[in-house]
Amino acid sequence: MHSSINNRKTKMYPIHLLGVSLVLVIFSVSPASSCIQEEKATLLQFLDGLLHDSGLSTSWQNNTNCCLWVGIVCDVDGAVAHISLASMGLEGHISPSLGNLTGLLTLNLSGNSLSSGLPPELLLSRSIVVLDVSFNKLNADLHNLPSNSDRPMKVINISSNLFTGYFPSTTLESMKNLASLNMSNNSFTGKILSTVCVDKPFFVVLDLSYNQFHGSIPPELGNCSVLRVLKAGQNQLSGTLPAELFNITSLEHLSFPNNRLQGTLAPEHIVKLRNLVILDLGQNELNGKIPNSIGNLNRLEELHLDSNNMSGQLPPALSKCSSIRTIILKGNKLEGDLANVNFSNLPYLKVLDVRSNKFTGIVPENLYSCSNLIALRLSFNKFHGQLSPRISNLKALKFLGISHNNFINITNTLQILSTSKTLSALLIGGNFRHETMPNYDMFYGFESLMLLGLNDCSLYGNLPAWLSKLKNLAALLLDNNKLSGPIPAWINSLDSLQYLDISNNSLTGDIPTTLTEMPMLKSTHSNPLIIQLPVYVAPLLQYRTLGVVPKMLNLGNNKLTGVIPQEIGQLKALLSLNLSFNYLYGEIPQSIGNIANLQLLDLSYNNLTGAIPSVLGKLHFLSKFNISNNDIEGPVPTEDQFSTFPDSSFVGNPRLCSPTLMHHCNSAKADTISIISTEQYVDKVIIAIAFGMFFVVGVLYDQMVVSRYICFGQIYLNWNKSQ
Ligand SMILES: *[C@@H]1O[C@H](CO)[C@@H](O)[C@H](O)[C@H]1NC(C)=O
Ligand SMILES: *[C@@H]1O[C@H](CO)[C@@H](O)[C@H](O)[C@H]1NC(C)=O
Ligand SMILES: *[C@@H]1O[C@H](CO)[C@@H](O)[C@H](O)[C@H]1NC(C)=O
Ligand SMILES: *[C@@H]1O[C@H](CO)[C@@H](O)[C@H](O)[C@H]1NC(C)=O
Ligand SMILES: *[C@@H]1O[C@H](CO)[C@@H](O)[C@H](O)[C@H]1NC(C)=O
Ligand SMILES: *[C@@H]1O[C@H](CO)[C@@H](O)[C@H](O)[C@H]1NC(C)=O
Ligand SMILES: *[C@@H]1O[C@H](CO)[C@@H](O)[C@H](O)[C@H]1NC(C)=O
Ligand SMILES: *[C@@H]1O[C@H](CO)[C@@H](O)[C@H](O)[C@H]1NC(C)=O
Ligand SMILES: *[C@@H]1O[C@H](CO)[C@@H](O)[C@H](O)[C@H]1NC(C)=O
Ligand SMILES: *[C@@H]1O[C@H](CO)[C@@H](O)[C@H](O)[C@H]1NC(C)=O
Ligand SMILES: *[C@@H]1O[C@H](CO)[C@@H](O)[C@H](O)[C@H]1NC(C)=O
Ligand SMILES: *[C@@H]1O[C@H](CO)[C@@H](O)[C@H](O)[C@H]1NC(C)=O
Repeated sequence: MHSSINNRKTKMYPIHLLGVSLVLVIFSVSPASSCIQEEKATLLQFLDGLLHDSGLSTSWQNNTNCCLWVGIVCDVDGAVAHISLASMGLEGHISPSLGNLTGLLTLNLSGNSLSSGLPPELLLSRSIVVLDVSFNKLNADLHNLPSNSDRPMKVINISSNLFTGYFPSTTLESMKNLASLNMSNNSFTGKILSTVCVDKPFFVVLDLSYNQFHGSIPPELGNCSVLRVLKAGQNQLSGTLPAELFNITSLEHLSFPNNRLQGTLAPEHIVKLRNLVILDLGQNELNGKIPNSIGNLNRLEELHLDSNNMSGQLPPALSKCSSIRTIILKGNKLEGDLANVNFSNLPYLKVLDVRSNKFTGIVPENLYSCSNLIALRLSFNKFHGQLSPRISNLKALKFLGISHNNFINITNTLQILSTSKTLSALLIGGNFRHETMPNYDMFYGFESLMLLGLNDCSLYGNLPAWLSKLKNLAALLLDNNKLSGPIPAWINSLDSLQYLDISNNSLTGDIPTTLTEMPMLKSTHSNPLIIQLPVYVAPLLQYRTLGVVPKMLNLGNNKLTGVIPQEIGQLKALLSLNLSFNYLYGEIPQSIGNIANLQLLDLSYNNLTGAIPSVLGKLHFLSKFNISNNDIEGPVPTEDQFSTFPDSSFVGNPRLCSPTLMHHCNSAKADTISIISTEQYVDKVIIAIAFGMFFVVGVLYDQMVVSRYICFGQIYLNWNKSQ
């Protein structure tokens, strides 16, 4: 009887699968339908399995019609047909009892915190068509379930859980109606199942990315003749792309990034995938050329071949991919002229990244006709020439990276770019070698600039006054130039600046007290603007926003003189302070002890005198400390944080003493401790232990918070290195 009801229902509520999107049509709820008693009990059993039901039980009352409960929809016969409990904050396990709902068509439990396994009863259900348990904490293996009769299942989304084990081959075998399987973002292991498509005439989406699959891609995948989406990135797949894969002419999205795939992109293969919209083979070990036949893929919107071993020139036919939006080729051995491609024919291009290749020549003028370009990165190549004024046609440009090429004429470059209203990250260092920093009041604009990298240029001149107008500037990198003159007093007018690197220059004079008044370094708040910061995050190659720019001051390796101002302690938000290799004298200010989150303090190679302020020992996050090669005297404190620093932090201070340094302290102090009475001693130990416990817990908590912060910092630094 159940099966006849089932058949009738399937006819009455047909489900059409249109590509990836599932559309439920003809779908009426009769308010009159009242729920079946056993099904109510089944639902209550499910409720019972929840540890935290987010108030579901106030709706799910035994004495009411279960067809009216939150998340439940019944069919005309009063059988439960749809359960939609996504993002309800549910915790606990999924009761196998749901497998007893013989009229259940869709089960959506996505985005909760459900744990333990997925009941086999659900995968083997004779009614469920759509199963979405994505974004939970489900774990354990999906067992191979013996199953020989036809199942109606069309959509399985078990992505973003904690599943382990092998591909559940026999479970899948009976699912002849399967259209979409998303297993991504779990911990599945083993090989990709070669029979995954066998007897599945409707199979259009397979997502296996973010797992631990290994071995080669089975050629039998070529049997998936209607597949449109095939994703298996972020696994450990090896071998070559099997020729059979290119038989799947229906493919629109082919994505295998971050594996260990080898071989070449054969021109006669790639040309067969005429429907391709996204091709992502980045971060593999592919070599050879980008085939010219790629030009036949006229629907192509995204091409990712970054971090491979591709060589040769850009294929001219790429100009025919007129729908293309994203081209990411960074980290290969591509060479020749960018002008191989006629960019005039790529009007939708938004992101072009060819960083770290061997491209030569000038930037082709027709690139500036791509008026939708948001991010352009040409860094670490061998481009030369001057920037064309036509670049100001790029009215949407936010990210420009041309660092480490052979571009010339910094004056011209800044003049052209300063008029941009959109540019927020400008990384042009490693060019303009031995030119002079323009210092006239000629640059207006740079309205949105948040990041300016003008490092590694050996530029002469001073810190120019036009910088003081960059009110949104969060990070300024001017290290490795030959800039001279003083650090200007206007420095504190950079309201948003929280990362300043002017190390390795020839700056002279005192540290101005205005530097100790930098608003963003005094305040532990981060400018909300910073959150909008768009950069390429190196390993992910994404154009994305960055949370936090670390608060840092690096004045190292200059010719600064005078004393370190006592007011430096006002910069309470600093994580890193480097004043090394200068001519600073006087004492280390006590006030540095106020910079509570300081992680790096480098004062080495100066002429500092006096004792080490013991308050520095209270800087619990200080992990790099260097005062070597000064004229500091007295004992090295042994308590608190000081016990963690190596001798190399202190060497080159002839009058400094410690038990491990060349110069030993006299032991008079140590003797006085033994005079303390035993009673006092015991009290002290107890206090020390109690304090220690508190301290450890407190610091651990902070450390967690800070390590999140540092993590962002590292992302930033990665970016910085990868500009
Ligand atoms: C629900 O009500 C029925 C009949 O009123 C009763 O038999 C059953 O035990 C109740 N179930 C629960 C879980 O309270
Ligand atoms: C499940 O619900 C979530 C949240 O409403 C939704 O995003 C998702 O598309 C649903 N799943 C299916 C298969 O419809
Ligand atoms: C399903 O229903 C059958 C019969 O009503 C019952 O014996 C069984 O315990 C139920 N299974 C679950 C998992 O609730
Ligand atoms: C799970 O996958 C299905 C099919 O692709 C999709 O409709 C659904 O929206 C996905 N669920 C979520 C939460 O994205
Ligand atoms: C699979 O699910 C993940 C989320 O878990 C989602 O990001 C991804 O887009 C889905 N894949 C497909 C092909 O829809
Ligand atoms: C993977 O799953 C985790 C946990 O649900 C989620 O936070 C993360 O965004 C997912 N990653 C991807 C790439 O879908
Ligand atoms: C699957 O593909 C292989 C070769 O790739 C072929 O030998 C086999 O017959 C195909 N199987 C089915 C069931 O189509
Ligand atoms: C699939 O590809 C292989 C190798 O390229 C080829 O020999 C075979 O004929 C193709 N099969 C179909 C059905 O196109
Ligand atoms: C990269 O390609 C070059 C040829 O362009 C080849 O000589 C070299 O062995 C390849 N390296 C790797 C790691 O595959
Ligand atoms: C590039 O394409 C444009 C528009 O199709 C055309 O006018 C121009 O002549 C082409 N340039 C070159 C160098 O082929
Ligand atoms: C550099 O650019 C400026 C301003 O555009 C221009 O006046 C000057 O001639 C250029 N210098 C060289 C060497 O091309
Ligand atoms: C450091 O101080 C000593 C004496 O105080 C002086 O002789 C020496 O020249 C100073 N060195 C520098 C680099 O200023």
